[in-house]
Order: sequence, then C-alpha cells, then structure tokens
Amino acid sequence: MFARSGSFAAFAMLVLLSACGSGQSAGGGKTVVGFAQIGSESGWRAAETKMAKLSAEQRGIDLRISDAQQRQENQIKAIRAFIAQGVDAIFLAPVVATGWDAVLKEAQAAKIPVVLLDRSIDTVDKNLYLSAVTSDTVHEGRVAGDWLTKQVAGKPCRVVEIQGTVGSSPATNRKKGFDEAIAKAPNVKLARSQSGDFTRTKAKEVMESFVKAEGAANICAVYAHNDDMMIGAIQAMKEAGMKPGKDVLTVSIDAVPDIFKAMADGDANATVELTPDMAGPAFDLLAAYKKDGKAPQKWVQTPSKLYLPDTAGAEYERRKNLY
Ligand code: AHR
Repeated sequence: MFARSGSFAAFAMLVLLSACGSGQSAGGGKTVVGFAQIGSESGWRAAETKMAKLSAEQRGIDLRISDAQQRQENQIKAIRAFIAQGVDAIFLAPVVATGWDAVLKEAQAAKIPVVLLDRSIDTVDKNLYLSAVTSDTVHEGRVAGDWLTKQVAGKPCRVVEIQGTVGSSPATNRKKGFDEAIAKAPNVKLARSQSGDFTRTKAKEVMESFVKAEGAANICAVYAHNDDMMIGAIQAMKEAGMKPGKDVLTVSIDAVPDIFKAMADGDANATVELTPDMAGPAFDLLAAYKKDGKAPQKWVQTPSKLYLPDTAGAEYERRKNLY
C-alpha cells in the first residue's frame, strides 16, 4: 500500500476501494478516521504510518489511510473521498503549506473535524482545522544550526544545505531556524542550498552536484532537513572519497535508526528527533473533544531533542524494530 512509487491509477483505485460514498458514517459503531498521508518518501514517514496503524488498533479505531505519493492533488481527492464516506474525523499531513482552504471548507461544511499531523498549513482561517500535532520546525533548524556553530567555534566553515520538499512547512521552517542560528556566527557561511525533496535518491544527486561545484575540500559541513537525505549525502561523499562524520560534519533531523547506525559507524555527527507518534496524541484529543465538546489546544507541540554519537549504538538498538 505504501510503495515508494506508483501510478495515479493505483492511487485512484485505493480511494475508490475505500470509499463507500454513502455520506453516512460507515464505522458500524467504531470511530472512523481518514488519514490523508503524504506517501513513503522517508523512513520517518513509514514509521509515522506504522505508528498511526498501531495507535488506531490499540484504541479500536477504524483508520483508513490513503497514500498521496507526495502529490497535493491526490491528498485533496482523498479528503473528498473521506467526506463522501462520512468519516468521523480526518487527519491530514499536508505535503505543502498552501492551497487547502477550499477542501477544508468542504470538510467543515460536512461537520468533519480535521487534525493536521506533522506539518502546518498557511491559512487565514484557523477554524478550518481543529488542531495541529507538530513539532516546532523552526526550533529544529535552530538546534541544528546552534550545534554546528559550537562545533566549528571561530573557524571558517562553508556549509551546504539539502532542503526538504519545496513549499512544505518543515522545509521553509527548518531553513529559517538554521539561517537564524548561523547568522550569529560570521565564520559559518551557507555556500549552497537546494531541495532533495526529503528523499535519499534526490539528496544523493544534490550532494554530488554540491561536491562538483564546491570542491570536496571546501565543504566543512552538511545540513539536511531529514536523515534520509543525509544518508543519501553520506553515500555521495563517500563515493567522492570524502570522510563524512570526520572531515565533514553532518547534522540532520528525524532520529531514524539508519542515522544512528551511521553515527555509530562514525559517518554522521548529529540528529534532531522528530517523533513519529503524531497520530496517538491526535486520537486522544479527538476522544476528549467527542466527550466534552470543548475545543482542544490548537497546537500540540511534540519535543525536538538533539542526539549525538555517544548514545548512537543504544538508540539504534532501541529503535530498529520500532520504526
Ligand atoms: O514533515 C516531517 C518530515 O517529512 C520528516 O522530517 C521527513 O522525513 C518527512 O518526509
């Protein structure tokens, strides 16, 4: 269901198969939640989907997940299908930040609450969603930038940045936070910045182009907006004869098992955690809302902790079967 690539026809089939089109609740007594998921672009995303399924099972919720293959139009179609099914609530992990008002108004008209998971949207009408369960993505960028500036204290450092999906809230905000942090250190210069779309394959290509353009010896550090892209960048650096984690500092975001493996192997230096358990708190706030009818917190903020190689081996062991 969550293949890394696939055709639009497969997506349409998925939506059709899961749609009952009755306009009435289809849960047979169970709470039904439709989850307009982005896709499977990263290890973190796959873990978020896995944990959402587990959380739903534990709570006896009928969770219907659609995989948009990283396309906003597929997410909009999925939301419309969920509305037609008469689900009790919709979870949306918005691939990009803009362009949601029309479809969210349709959900509002159908009295279906929408909870945003892991990414935020740009809208003037905050009533279009019930709540958002996300981290502070600007803060994540700041944590990464502060860590880097401390490591290079006073020494000149040319850093390259691999951004997430263009127009997505984490890409915009993780860049903003990092830029703010390194602006305090005149010795740290952002040499190049380009999108790797949150995927290993694209990030590897981006890193290869950075190495070609900058010269391997001139790159002091790599900042990637997620760990998967850092894994791709590490591969590109190794193929170019560079030594990531030793001669080139790395810092990325997510804290997935593969980056802990890379840290334990000496190929990576730091990661900022993003919990994949976004659905659990969202189910809980929905249950409370259903019970007492009071509007929940507009933003449920998840923590962002920095991890370094000292705990990498143990973290890898702890997480490898969870993700
Ligand atoms: O929105 C969260 C980001 O999306 C994660 O950091 C990344 O891995 C995913 O693709």
